[in-house]
Amino acid sequence: MSVSSAHSTGNSTAPSLSEAGASALTEQRIVVLDFGSQYAQLIARRVREQNVYCQILRHDLTADRIAELAPKGIILSGGPSSVYEDGAPRCDPELFKLGIPVLGICYGLQVACEAFGGKVTNTSRREYGHAMCEIVDPGTLFDDLPGEIDVWMSHGDQISAISEQFEPLARTSTCPFAAIRHKELPVYGMQFHPEVTHTPQGGKVLENFVRRICGCEPNWQLSDFADATVRQIRQLVGDRRVICGLSGGVDSSVVAALLYKAIGPQLTCILIDNGLLRKNEQTLVIDEFSNHFKTDLHVVDAEDRFLASLAGIVEPQEKRRRIGHDFIECFKKEAESIENAHFLAQGTLYPDVIESGADPDGPAATIKLHHNVGGLPEELGFELIEPLRDLFKDEVRRLGLELGLPEKLVWRHPFPGPGLAVRCLGEVTRDKLIVLRAADAIVIEEIEAAGLYRDTSQTFAVLLPVQSVGVMGDARTYDNAIAVRSVNTDDFMTADWSRLPYELLARISTRIINEVQGVNRVCYDISSKPPATIEWE
Ligand code: XMP
Repeated sequence: MSVSSAHSTGNSTAPSLSEAGASALTEQRIVVLDFGSQYAQLIARRVREQNVYCQILRHDLTADRIAELAPKGIILSGGPSSVYEDGAPRCDPELFKLGIPVLGICYGLQVACEAFGGKVTNTSRREYGHAMCEIVDPGTLFDDLPGEIDVWMSHGDQISAISEQFEPLARTSTCPFAAIRHKELPVYGMQFHPEVTHTPQGGKVLENFVRRICGCEPNWQLSDFADATVRQIRQLVGDRRVICGLSGGVDSSVVAALLYKAIGPQLTCILIDNGLLRKNEQTLVIDEFSNHFKTDLHVVDAEDRFLASLAGIVEPQEKRRRIGHDFIECFKKEAESIENAHFLAQGTLYPDVIESGADPDGPAATIKLHHNVGGLPEELGFELIEPLRDLFKDEVRRLGLELGLPEKLVWRHPFPGPGLAVRCLGEVTRDKLIVLRAADAIVIEEIEAAGLYRDTSQTFAVLLPVQSVGVMGDARTYDNAIAVRSVNTDDFMTADWSRLPYELLARISTRIINEVQGVNRVCYDISSKPPATIEWE
């Protein structure tokens, strides 16, 4: 958990629970130094699957700072650069002398090798995809593994010569140094990616590194994390009051459930119904939080206000800006009526912390503009509580289940803050929202009935700003088109369209056209991200 004063900055820079060294759970941590890899978060998640806490840090953190953090192991991630390019990112070479085990992956291997005088060259054949890797010396890293394993490669450069201080552990037909080990220091490296599912034994390789080489105990348990966080919240909040905005999404629900466990009646939840919610969303949230958890729940009916400010607005960013602004105003007004309110709870997750650049030791900010309602705590002058700041989404979901939230809520697909406004292309009107909401509900009902809700990451309907000609009965129609979007993704940064069965698509199309007045055409979106995005606006 992290607590910070919202007056100083919009993004909290307060130390996280782990940073504060407050918990024995995070004492045995592994750190990943991020060289810009698309897989850095995946590495951290794979380590946490070993029940070992893992944090992502900037690649150029000094060896002194790393020594202070005292991790049990260091993983150097992959990255898009070539070590021989000008300005290629490197780590502090002193870290290899700390005596802390180091594992370099892909670019990380090359950085480590180069630091010891090895030679990295650009291969004429870029190696991308599956390879068979022969283990020539299992040592501890490849212990309990067969002599040959399937691995996933993704590199243009590879090690052409290792310094005498290293010895090879594995090779492929094109890569003589697929894995290496320093002869004296606890420094290892591999050219392939153990963190991706295409390296089926990768989990075991990482387990060998984390558990056997670094000596970590598997003591990072979500239940212990929850207990520790609850204790901390109680201590911090004392007899004051915490406000929590509910959106119907899993993150805010888990934050509220955690706070409820910690401080019960001192929690007030606010649900702003902006008229842009999905069908039955308000009822679902009210049922859960006023019946099941019995929290003090304020429901603000603000549909008219939001639709009035969206009238005539077509440009997506302007829609977002207005929604954000109205949201702050509504929240502010409601919060005024809540006495002794001192804290505002937010469902910031670890990927948000990493990508916003909010952690001074974390990797530099990358592009992520749209998440969370910007500026809210700053505007309100509350102190901020972010109990999920150390967790990945899948961990949040598991925590939600442990806290007694129903599966239906915990496994809900993500829903964007600006709601249906970014799925109602062009101007947002009440009538269009009625059409969209009805079509969206059919999509979800059918995907649930087909047992595929959990197999897709995000599925929804989009109302397109076009009319097309159709024929219904004997009459010509000139009506709206709905696009169905369904994607599969691990991290929502990249995504592929879901290969839904034709029969299911047929049922969805027939039902929408028959049951939703004003729609005569349904299309299925088969674009991946990138180059498309998940939402249409
Ligand atoms: P995109 O469309 O960028 O979406 O591929 C990635 C994920 O983020 C969600 N999303 C948002 N969430 N405010 C949010 O809170 C937003 O403005 C926003 N835009 C997109 C989207 O639903 C998907 O899960």
